[in-house]
Amino acid sequence: MSETRILSAQEDDMKAAVREAAALLAKGEIVALPTETVYGLGADAFNADAVAKVFAAKERPAFDPLIVHISSFKELAEVAVVPEDIAATVKSLAGAFWPGPLTIVLPKTDKVPDLVTSGLPTVAVRQSANLIFRNVGKELGRPIAAPSANRFGRISPTSASAVLKELEGRIPLVIDGGACREGLESTIITIENRGGEQKPLIRVLRAGPVTKEELQKFGKVVIEKKSVTERPDAPGQLESHYAPRTPLLMFDKPEDFRPEPGKKYGLLSYRGDPKAGYMDLHEWETVEELSPGSGKLMEAAVRLFHVMRVLDEEGLDAIVAEPVSETGLGVAIMDRLRRASAK
Ligand code: TXA
Ligand code: MG
Repeated sequence: MSETRILSAQEDDMKAAVREAAALLAKGEIVALPTETVYGLGADAFNADAVAKVFAAKERPAFDPLIVHISSFKELAEVAVVPEDIAATVKSLAGAFWPGPLTIVLPKTDKVPDLVTSGLPTVAVRQSANLIFRNVGKELGRPIAAPSANRFGRISPTSASAVLKELEGRIPLVIDGGACREGLESTIITIENRGGEQKPLIRVLRAGPVTKEELQKFGKVVIEKKSVTERPDAPGQLESHYAPRTPLLMFDKPEDFRPEPGKKYGLLSYRGDPKAGYMDLHEWETVEELSPGSGKLMEAAVRLFHVMRVLDEEGLDAIVAEPVSETGLGVAIMDRLRRASAK
């Protein structure tokens, strides 16, 4: 592959871009597409050769399964067999969060190639809320398998230019739909019926924009903390993931930071607030704030991967990340920061 084209899909250009993306996918090609979470690298989910191209472009190991995106609830039956004992819960969750950033792991149908699920009997499914993505799915008439459009282990792209930095020359087309609204990858869950009068058990395999608090209405929610290294349930749970090239450091308390003389450090600050204890700790080479506006977790989530990329390009010896409070979206933000800082 040589040239990667970039096509704008904003406003007037949307129809043409959608048509072109769907035509390439129908031919078994791969295309980077915007979603509301992060940019995805899409392929026709029923075409194993096309899916193989996704793994190759990302240098993704074959044991890491992909998420399948449907464009209507009706399409769910083509990719997943919903067990009867959780059907009502799946329906209510879909009603509440689809289209949107919630991925549900369910038993797969035979139509889904083993390559998509890395040989697992289950498939991870969601319906994206991004209008461009949804229209491409509708035009294609088939579900789209799409991991985040970054090389394996790197920061997920939240803009078309970030996709180019990751995959330029490896894919034929990027559809530019502007910046992603959520900025963090979808929440991934499994659902179990515990029998009797008990509420269903919802396990969060990857924390994301749909929070524990929001899921609690639908069952008992547990956030899986185990980090797995081989054939994991969710390799997004691999300890070192979403990582910048520059080492990212996190500390239990600010005083634990011991700068080495002559080295350049940057600070990834939540709100630029000296009270957090990091701002005045050191003569930082550079400081980037996650939420320079109203100091909200939502703004921090949207900006996290972008700011990580900016700091990564500053030629620093290390980046120090301030923690955020672990409530609501803060759980997903801290999850990504910890994984980026894992060695
Ligand atoms: O927001 C998102 O989810 C984005 C956009 C493009 O939709 N996609 C994304 O895909 O983050 P990816 O491939 O970067 O992460 C998908 C995660 C992986 O950690 C994978 O292990 C997990 O989903 N996964 C896929 N199939 C699974 C399955 N059958 N059981 C458990 N985990 C699964
Ligand atoms: Mg990913």
